[in-house]
Amino acid sequence: MSDQIHDRLLIIDFGSQVTQLIARRLRELSVYCEIHPYQKVDDAFLRDFAPKAIIFSGGPDSVTRAGSPRPPQLAYDLGVPILGICYGQQVMMQDLGGRVEGGKISGGGGTAEFGRAYVTPSDERIDLLTGWFLDGREQVWMSHGDHVAALAPGFAVYGTSPNAPFAITADLDRRFFAVQFHPEVHHTPNGKTLYENFVRLAGFTGDWTMSAYREEAIRLIREQVGDKKVICGLSGGVDSSVAAVLIHEAIGDNLTCVFVDHGLLRQNEAQEVVTMFRDHYNIPLIHADESELFLGELEGVTDPEVKRKTIGRLFIDVFQKYANQIENAEFLAQGTLYPDVIESVSFSGGPSVTIKSHHNVGGLPEKMGLKLVEPLRELFKDEVRALGTELGLPASFIGRHPFPGPGLAIRCPGEITRDKLEILRKADAVYIDQIRKHGLYDEIWQAFVAILPVRTVGVMGDGRTYDYACALRAVTSVDGMTADYYPFTHDFLGETATRIINEVEGINRVTYDITSKPPGTIEWE
Ligand code: XMP
Repeated sequence: MSDQIHDRLLIIDFGSQVTQLIARRLRELSVYCEIHPYQKVDDAFLRDFAPKAIIFSGGPDSVTRAGSPRPPQLAYDLGVPILGICYGQQVMMQDLGGRVEGGKISGGGGTAEFGRAYVTPSDERIDLLTGWFLDGREQVWMSHGDHVAALAPGFAVYGTSPNAPFAITADLDRRFFAVQFHPEVHHTPNGKTLYENFVRLAGFTGDWTMSAYREEAIRLIREQVGDKKVICGLSGGVDSSVAAVLIHEAIGDNLTCVFVDHGLLRQNEAQEVVTMFRDHYNIPLIHADESELFLGELEGVTDPEVKRKTIGRLFIDVFQKYANQIENAEFLAQGTLYPDVIESVSFSGGPSVTIKSHHNVGGLPEKMGLKLVEPLRELFKDEVRALGTELGLPASFIGRHPFPGPGLAIRCPGEITRDKLEILRKADAVYIDQIRKHGLYDEIWQAFVAILPVRTVGVMGDGRTYDYACALRAVTSVDGMTADYYPFTHDFLGETATRIINEVEGINRVTYDITSKPPGTIEWE
């Protein structure tokens, strides 16, 4: 968002795997920051960005190599505090007149170091380290091949580890700080304190709050859109919902939401979305009930990829059909988040900068000649949730588990039939009810039932049954990229199986999926 009213911190990315975590730590401290690849940060960019402080990230390159990544000289001349991390430390030392040595050099000067290490303080304590060394030493995470061999003029050492004599260095006059380890990772348990000290000494007041963001986002949406019309595809998920409510606050009824109901939603889901948006928020909403179309086209389809492609194709066609009915629409709103737009530094293969962009309704804006409104593109997922709370969305809605675009289709391996979907909906509702009743919903990242394409023999009362088997899935995860199964107690599993078999006609066998990801995926298809 240009034209900001809050303080800004710039993270110059030199390609570390964990640069995003720096941003996470800072956002948790209510500090607004942006990550930009070093290739993009030139003098003009720096002047325009006007950072109140700068962080140099780590990176895989070696400053001893000619042509290795560097910040522009202006970064040092702006007079703002700088924190260099790992490669960022080495860059700072080399640029300012110190010396860095490469490779594994044992003894004396320092060696390559990977993993946990302990830093002990020098005699002089500095503001950056307030709250550190309370037990005499501090656990940190090291991951470096090169090391600083001679400090740049003006710098002194404030912490050492057995293999890193220059673990913490600083030029207090210029407020330049440089550390060999990674304070942003989990394995540096007190790392957040170090960031907290850095932003405090840089003068940040913690002005990045969701209520400030809300005001600013509304102003900018109005500026961008004027009196033109905006269409927003609602999925019922948190991101598109928060985007819709925010845009509606900004431009009122010039926003129309289109909710494509593909007949693959969970029990009561369509009704809940429609009630909330149309009745509670008074947002103009088209409920495109196209379940006949989707389920018709999916008849007889068993291949998971064909299912996904069919749904994707129909979704775009349907969305476009309804969007075309909205006269003078010039903008399409999307719930794109910051992790989708961070330009990551790529050192291997392809162009030097890879831009990950996420289109919920891929390709549509160009096809329909629409411009994009993406009011969440600076937020992380938990910030979207905080903004949703700020906008008054119910907590039960904001905390909902993710639900995939193709819906129940990918939880129904084999052929999708209306009967199976109905059984699946009921079983899923019982399972989620159980999880809520036991107070486990917020501990679990995602939970659902899959109905299996097998029927098994059972006995109920005195009779034989021949019904479907189902699998319960519940995982813990941070971002869905990796996941572990949730360790329910046997009591919970037993009680849930009994309830599903008693309450859901059509299921006579319940299994629990204990596969992690990898090697499994979260969804069954
Ligand atoms: P997998 O099954 O790949 O899922 O481990 C990881 C996460 O992504 C969700 N998912 C999707 N979300 N469209 C979506 O919006 C999709 O096509 C899709 N496929 C999987 C899945 O629910 C899990 O949270």
